Order: sequence, then structure tokens, then C-alpha cells
Amino acid sequence: MAGCLILRSVGAKTVKRKLLLIVLAAFVGTASLVVAAVQDGWDVPEDAKAVESPFAADDEVIAEGATLYQRNCRMCHGESGKGDGPATARIKPAPPDITTAEAQDRMSDGEMFYKITVGKRPMREFESKLSEDERWNMVHFLRTLRAG
Ligand code: HEC
Repeated sequence: MAGCLILRSVGAKTVKRKLLLIVLAAFVGTASLVVAAVQDGWDVPEDAKAVESPFAADDEVIAEGATLYQRNCRMCHGESGKGDGPATARIKPAPPDITTAEAQDRMSDGEMFYKITVGKRPMREFESKLSEDERWNMVHFLRTLRAG
């Protein structure tokens, strides 16, 4: 009898825990939808666009950026930045071609830096992965990908 009672209360606890999980999941789901909607336009603040690199490009900076690009970006953005990396078979939207004059002229260095820093799904943020200098190396390297 006592055993039966214990079992019943364990059962009730499990149900409560499950309900809590469902409520939590629904909440997290809604919250991330809201975040996705907010991020949709990838609004780059004007002051972020105006930020300039603290150092100029040189061979070392570009070589460092190239290595980081191979490791962190090539799988999506492709070998030369055309947006045709192997991971694009699985991700949506596909990355844009960042080698075109249109893309290169549209974005200031500060805008590129900001986008790399905060990311936008499916692109992760790199603030927690790459140092500021590494992100600037990356911006200088992306400029070398300009196709025309
Ligand atoms: C998981 C795939 C993925 C990875 C890894 C990734 N990106 Fe992206 N990136 C994207 C996608 C997709 C977009 C387009 C997002 C949008 O506009 O909806 C994008 C957009 C960008 C843009 C803006 C392009 C524009 O025309 O507005 C830049 C700059 C960029 N990525 C740089 C990088 C750099 C540098 C790295 C590595 C440090 C990187 N990305 C890693 C998928 C990726």
C-alpha cells in the first residue's frame, strides 16, 4: 500500500516535470521566433557601420585572415567567397556572393565587422570565437576576395 502511494506520487511528479518542460519549450520556441523576426533585416546600426579597423591591411594581416576564413567560413561561403561552400547543401538561406562589386561596395568595413561579430542564422556569431583583431583580419581578407 505504502509502496503504491510512493509510486503514485513519483508518477505525478514526472507528469508535472513533463508539463513544465513542455511549457518551457513553448516559451523558448516563441522567444526564438521573436528573435528571428527581429534579426530578419540584419539591421546594422549606423555607428557600427562607421567603425574603422584599428590597423591597416598588410601581408601578415591578410594571411592570418585567410587562415581564419578557411577554418571558420569556407564551409558556407566557399573557397573564394561566392557562397558555394559544401555546407550550403544543408543551410537556408545560402550565403550571398560576397565577391561582387555590389556586395563589396554596399558594406563598409565596420558593417562587415559587425556582421561577423553578431552573425545571423544560420551564420553563428563570432564575438565569442574570434578576438577583435582576428575579426578585423577577416574583414581585410574579405576585401581581397573582390571579383570586379
Ligand atoms: C553556417 C554557414 C556560415 C558560416 C560558417 C559563416 N557564414 Fe557568413 N553568412 C552565412 C549566411 C547564410 C549569410 C546570409 C545571412 C542573411 O543575410 O540572411 C551570411 C552572411 C555573411 C556576410 C554578409 C554578406 C552580405 O552581403 O550582407 C558576411 C560579411 C559574412 N557572412 C562573413 C562571414 C565570415 C567572415 C565568416 C567566418 C568567420 C562567416 N561568414 C561564416 C552563412 C555562414
